[in-house]
Amino acid sequence: MLLLGVNIDHCATVRQARYRQAPATVGGAVEPDPVTLAVLSERAGADGITVHLREDRRHIQERDVWRLRETISTRLNLEMACTPEMTAFALKLKPDFVCLVPENRQEITTEGGLDVIGLRDRVRACIEAMGAAGIKVSLFIDPDEPQIELAAKLGAPFVELHTGAYAHACHTPRRAHEFQRLRLGCVRAHDLGLTVNAGHGINYVNIAEIRTLPHLHELNIGHTIISRALFTGIEEAVREMKARMNGETEKKKS
Ligand code: PXP
Repeated sequence: MLLLGVNIDHCATVRQARYRQAPATVGGAVEPDPVTLAVLSERAGADGITVHLREDRRHIQERDVWRLRETISTRLNLEMACTPEMTAFALKLKPDFVCLVPENRQEITTEGGLDVIGLRDRVRACIEAMGAAGIKVSLFIDPDEPQIELAAKLGAPFVELHTGAYAHACHTPRRAHEFQRLRLGCVRAHDLGLTVNAGHGINYVNIAEIRTLPHLHELNIGHTIISRALFTGIEEAVREMKARMNGETEKKKS
């Protein structure tokens, strides 16, 4: 079964739009609470909860992450920049997984994969420090062979292949090319002994094709689930995505 990590960042985005100055996330009218969303997502079948604690703290706050650590019963996946500050934070928090992502203040969301080649020494140091603390590291990378090969060489147990270029190309002639890039990336990563996750830009439509990629272990999905939850509620949105990820909607139709 393909696993689902629900990325709840955009629940915090909505909260911050109104309550940026509020000191706490509990009590009063400070809403919506990402931790409540996480618990409901788990109840509906999420296999893990993912948050990105950005340097600019634009959505998820440190306090959210500590509350999640104490509250959720599945696995906590902390997306973070590969910096000494974030490494120290993760070693204190002890999430189940850390996913190293690139960070650029101007970007609206994570835009490209991590440049493992350019950041080789920092990435190696982070993988070693996390490994010693029992935290599994995933590298969020584009499906490019040199990046995948170096991820394996540095001892990362997981990669998360960036599906954003494919998602952007879905309605263009580049779709087949981007899908093939992902397919080859999955095969190469698996051959090198990496566990293969994927994420970014996956939605209720393109999941039908994404799910056919070989060797996929887990998908991290945020924006589309939070968007659908506005209309259906989070539990229905999570259930529907998990069903589509595992071909259950197709089975029902036939
Ligand atoms: N994986 C990573 C590493 C991300 O940075 C993001 C976006 O925050 C996602 C997955 C989820 O992307 P989306 O919100 O488009 O589903």
